[in-house]
Amino acid sequence: MNFIDIHCHILPGMDDGPSTMEESLKMLEVAEKDGISCIFATPHILDGLYSNKGSEIISSVGNLKKHLPGGLELFYGADVRVIPDLIHRMESGEIPTLNGSDYMLMELPEFIVPPHLDSLIFNLRHKGITPIITHPERHLRLMHDHKGLSGLRDMGAMCQITAMSITGGFGREIMRASFTMIERGLADMVASDAHNHDRRPPILSNAYKEVKKHFGEKIADALFFHNPGRIMEDVRRQS
Ligand SMILES: [Fe+2]
Repeated sequence: MNFIDIHCHILPGMDDGPSTMEESLKMLEVAEKDGISCIFATPHILDGLYSNKGSEIISSVGNLKKHLPGGLELFYGADVRVIPDLIHRMESGEIPTLNGSDYMLMELPEFIVPPHLDSLIFNLRHKGITPIITHPERHLRLMHDHKGLSGLRDMGAMCQITAMSITGGFGREIMRASFTMIERGLADMVASDAHNHDRRPPILSNAYKEVKKHFGEKIADALFFHNPGRIMEDVRRQS
């Protein structure tokens, strides 16, 4: 299918994803079987817990690339927790965008929408960076606050829904929230946010089928191909 997975914890020993290279390779196998052709390896950057640096992520991607199956391309990135000095650390290269493109994954703290989020999005956009808010359907506030989410999108942020939210892997409430977001046009793309090969695997095809069944091919293609494809185009343009 040539799916593009922009959010995947696949690098060994960097966060709560795979702990060994063997497990990373199993994940690559699952992804390839599912029809994924491009994966962004996006470990957490979360102060106090996962202090991954851009240079370390790039070098780990280089290692994993040596074992890459033929039909797959691997890119670097990070699942970046919102912090006040994010822009400064991005400009110093400590925090990477998606493979050096103008797009960056941005994860909110679990329970709150930080008061400085608006100004952070504004300043990132001013610098030409588009933040992609990861899994708002799993965020305690945003999952019900569609007006708030819509406001963040109006400022230029994009929203990424997690495939397993759509297929019910995180429960009915989160499944319903993701469907409502898609229905209201608040979702921009779907990614796996995979962490391992079995419980949270890099699989997109099941969610694609669900979205196609409920919302039609045009919306499914936008969420799984066209919008992630814009990021790929930017990656290729800048590399
Ligand atoms: Fe993640």
